Amino acid sequence: MAAPTGFSATQIRLHWIVFILIVLQYVLHEPISDAWHAYERGEEIAFNPVVASHVAGGILVLLFALWRIALRVKRGAPAAPEQEPPILKLAASVTHIALYALMILMPLSGMAAWFGGVEAAAEGHEVMRVILLALVALHVLGALYHQFILKTDVLIRMRKPAA
Ligand code: HEM
Ligand code: HEM
Repeated sequence: MAAPTGFSATQIRLHWIVFILIVLQYVLHEPISDAWHAYERGEEIAFNPVVASHVAGGILVLLFALWRIALRVKRGAPAAPEQEPPILKLAASVTHIALYALMILMPLSGMAAWFGGVEAAAEGHEVMRVILLALVALHVLGALYHQFILKTDVLIRMRKPAA
């Protein structure tokens, strides 16, 4: 199967919806952290819509990530631009795989902590939140490097669907 010339409209929409959901997971994390610490102290946890939104938002990230992977396998992704040095192509692929992995492991560890009371999963969730943040920073730096140094069209192809 030949590689497509760009991403589909669905792939692009999912990329940016998941981006917004993940930003909200970070911005609105405090109530669920407080609720978790209260649970650890054996206290009663009252219903809080922001906590519920962390759970629902995280589960949506998981479902959308699985959908994206299915699309990726079925449709493929555009080849890396010619002018990108091989070492950067490799770094980009590894970063993308790690981002997909964390879009799955973050929600799974959160669910194991929240629904199963697994403390080790909560610790994993805390460690992975730092790794995810670092990978997103690297990913954004990569996109900016493409835009301003290599002068490729990668930012455009995450905005405009391939015909
Ligand atoms: C991609 C999805 C997710 C992201 C990016 C995310 C992000 C975060 C962040 C940044 C924190 C704060 C950690 C801290 O204060 O040190 C947190 C805490 C927490 N999250 Fe999530 N979360 C996600 C999905 C979920 C899901 C689906 C659940 C549960 C069903 C969940 C349950 C929790 C719990 C119980 C805590 C408090 C325990 C802890 O601090 O580790 N998360 N999350
Ligand atoms: C939570 C934040 C983000 C996550 C988890 C994420 C994840 C991903 C993943 C997994 C891919 C690979 C798609 C594939 O080939 O299947 C991708 C591609 C891409 N992302 Fe992100 N992304 C995030 C934020 C951003 C931001 C803020 C930007 C812009 C500065 C951006 C720009 C791009 C671009 C341009 C591509 C296409 C790369 C290419 O054409 O090969 N992403 N993103």
